[in-house]
Amino acid sequence: MDINKLLAGRTKLMRASEIRELLKWVTEDVISFGGGMPDPSSFPINEIIEVTRDVLTTKGDKALQYGATGGVPELKEELMRFMNKGGIGTLGDHDVIITVGSQEALDLLGRVLIDPGDYIITESPTYLAAIQAFRIYEPRIVGVPMDGEGIIIEELERRIREIREGGGRIKFIYVIPTGQNPTGITMSMERRKALLEVASEYDLLVIEDDPYGYIYFGNDSQPSRLKAMDSEGRVIYMSTFSKIAAPGLRLGWVYATKEIIRWLELAKQSVDLHTSTLNQYIAAELLRRGVIERNIPRIKEIYRTKRDLMLQALSEYMQDGVTWTKPSAGMFIWLSLPDHADTSKLLEIAIKKYRVAYVPGRSFYPNGERGNDMRLNFTYPKPQEIFEGVRRLSLAISEYLREIKP
Ligand SMILES: Cc1ncc(COP(=O)(O)O)c(C=O)c1O
Repeated sequence: MDINKLLAGRTKLMRASEIRELLKWVTEDVISFGGGMPDPSSFPINEIIEVTRDVLTTKGDKALQYGATGGVPELKEELMRFMNKGGIGTLGDHDVIITVGSQEALDLLGRVLIDPGDYIITESPTYLAAIQAFRIYEPRIVGVPMDGEGIIIEELERRIREIREGGGRIKFIYVIPTGQNPTGITMSMERRKALLEVASEYDLLVIEDDPYGYIYFGNDSQPSRLKAMDSEGRVIYMSTFSKIAAPGLRLGWVYATKEIIRWLELAKQSVDLHTSTLNQYIAAELLRRGVIERNIPRIKEIYRTKRDLMLQALSEYMQDGVTWTKPSAGMFIWLSLPDHADTSKLLEIAIKKYRVAYVPGRSFYPNGERGNDMRLNFTYPKPQEIFEGVRRLSLAISEYLREIKP
């Protein structure tokens, strides 16, 4: 039977993630900078065991029951307090929805906001799985280039004007202002203010995806969240427990005006009714007991140490003509080869001959416009693997650059 004849049009828009494809190739002897996983030693396992036992003992009847689509009220309240400490004030006309990781939030936002042919704007490059989530709803995705300070505002405005002049409808601007995935860049305060001014001037929604803001490990002070500066209710803020506790909990949340949250709840109802009640009670208790707050400095220290190791290895081993970012947040370093290089082609040499893996950069560009970058994850590999992996990567790059000499 040919299933292809029966697939919906939108199914053909789904593409296997290059990261997942890559994982198939990676055997035990390959050092992988490819995934996007936290260091498992950062998970508060003992505390989660204790909290789970307590939750099941004291409120097992509620924790194992169906729950409201928006989420468990205790968790929503704890999150309000948590965000408050992160500078986001509690606004009367705002609400929270708890999602299955922030990945579900991306899908729900696409579902609720995007009609085929609408324009959405992202940083370029941007989070690959956001592109994939949005793409199913058939928007035209316009990527705006970044520099070391984040999205370039003049380029953003130019594109907004171009789209509007062509009669296009823009639905939102999607940004990851802190420790961006994939580049590791943190948007400067000046850019954040300018971005909000542009959004206000052109009356646009902004989606602020903030998985890494609570584990900022830079030495300078962390710029304010966009949501903390949003006086017009145009920022849809989202974050996740994946980096402050553990991704296996699959818990994320969105904080936005009640009106937006209500639409997201309606959309979520038909997807999965609600997020795991048990996990929500566990997370509420982790927050209430201060487990998450106490764990955050430990996570920051692990990330900072590993980032420093990778930066040190890069400056020791990398050849001239190769550049990379120096992140203050997030889990990734973005490495760029000379313009004529193609990191998808290099990957084969890297994995098969040098036993080291990474994610080629092209798929992070909404329109695939650049192919000479790669994303390196520094949080999952062990310290000795970081050094050895960078050494191997540099050998692979040398061999490849010799092969393609212009
Ligand atoms: C920018 C960004 N958004 C969303 C996610 C999704 O995370 P989760 O679904 O685990 O919350 C990630 C995961 O790495 C990410 O980097």
